[in-house]
Amino acid sequence: MSAHVDGARVQRELEELARFTHVEPSSEGTAVTRVVFTDDDLAARTWLIGLAEAEGFAVRVDAVGNTFIRLEGADPSLAAVATGSHIDAIPHAGMYDGTVGVIGGLEALRAIKTSGVQPKRAVELILFTSEEPTRFGIGCLGSRLMAGTLSDVKAGGLIDLTAAKGEAAKTLDEVRTAAGFTGALTSTRLLPGHYAEFVELHIEQGPLLERDGQDVGIVTSIAAPASYRFVIEGFGGHAGALLMPDRRDALCAASEVILAVERSALTLGTIDTVATVGTCGVYPGAVNSVPSKVALELDLRDTDPRRRGRVMDAIRSEIAAIETKRGVRITETLVNEDVPAACGERIVGAISGAAVAAGMSSRMMVSRAYHDTLFMAQICPVGMIFIPCRGGVSHRPDEFATVEGISHGTQLLTEVLTVLSSE
Ligand code: GLV
Ligand code: MN
Ligand code: MN
Repeated sequence: MSAHVDGARVQRELEELARFTHVEPSSEGTAVTRVVFTDDDLAARTWLIGLAEAEGFAVRVDAVGNTFIRLEGADPSLAAVATGSHIDAIPHAGMYDGTVGVIGGLEALRAIKTSGVQPKRAVELILFTSEEPTRFGIGCLGSRLMAGTLSDVKAGGLIDLTAAKGEAAKTLDEVRTAAGFTGALTSTRLLPGHYAEFVELHIEQGPLLERDGQDVGIVTSIAAPASYRFVIEGFGGHAGALLMPDRRDALCAASEVILAVERSALTLGTIDTVATVGTCGVYPGAVNSVPSKVALELDLRDTDPRRRGRVMDAIRSEIAAIETKRGVRITETLVNEDVPAACGERIVGAISGAAVAAGMSSRMMVSRAYHDTLFMAQICPVGMIFIPCRGGVSHRPDEFATVEGISHGTQLLTEVLTVLSSE
């Protein structure tokens, strides 16, 4: 292998990055909360740009904060090869989701640079803005805009869901401007052909690699996510005085909706179908007040979008029955319904060949989690490298990947970027 990767440095930088967090220390592990455009996120971005500039890499930041770190190639007329991931983290997350692909990507650029052989094509590391849906309710904001699958008008008007109680919620346009990211959102769009290829390194977020003792996973496709919001309006009142037969309790109706979601996925789906109601906002939210309004967010995914559609139809018909039975009104808003992505055969082959050459064991696998790669697939051929994570645990403070696993993944990413950028 020509380019040397410093696994200890990657680990050290991951630990440094984990300090940019808005969360109390956790006994469960290294808890990280880093919501997009908060002070922690902005400070982490500044820190990362500092590392990149110290290496002499050119840095560009677009209107939504997507950040591009570039190692120039010998032939600037050729499209670059790109890698990247995200550093935003959902509340009480761990320190490896997304970050391994960013810090590992930076290490890959450094390793290629110090190998002494300038790549033919430029190699770019992308830090994508808001892969997590925490703040604006939709995941992969930066890559959706880049690929043009989310219009600038719709994106700019997205509402900040994390506004404190009583505070007027701001739009994405207001929040990004305050964070220092200005300019038309249309300028974030990249046309097909802008990149030759894109490869993302990520923790598996599932148990298969660890269970079967494989070093790396080679992703062949990414399952299709969808998400919806429901508002359930009933009739509230005094918890002592409103008689049980007269109630139209919105939270009781919401409970039935949640169970209908679970039932529909289990009965109509397969092992590839997953449905989660992950948030529930209760109004007015007092112990002695009957809930009059509830807001739910549903995350529904499948490798087959038609089956996902059938599950959603079943949920809708159960919802209609719940409305009638409980005398409540339930409105549905579509947030996103995405298509699955297939990884490029040539990239899958390059990853597989590099793994064999490096003596790493591997397996082909589907990504059930979504990633910015899902949207990069709309503008160039894509691939993903997974590394094992302990117990398959993710989106929790006890998320963990070994230094050895991170080093393997970074080494493999480096090899693949070297091959792709030389063609
Ligand atoms: C990404 O964080 C996902 O929810 O798949
Ligand atoms: Mn995540
Ligand atoms: Mn992620």
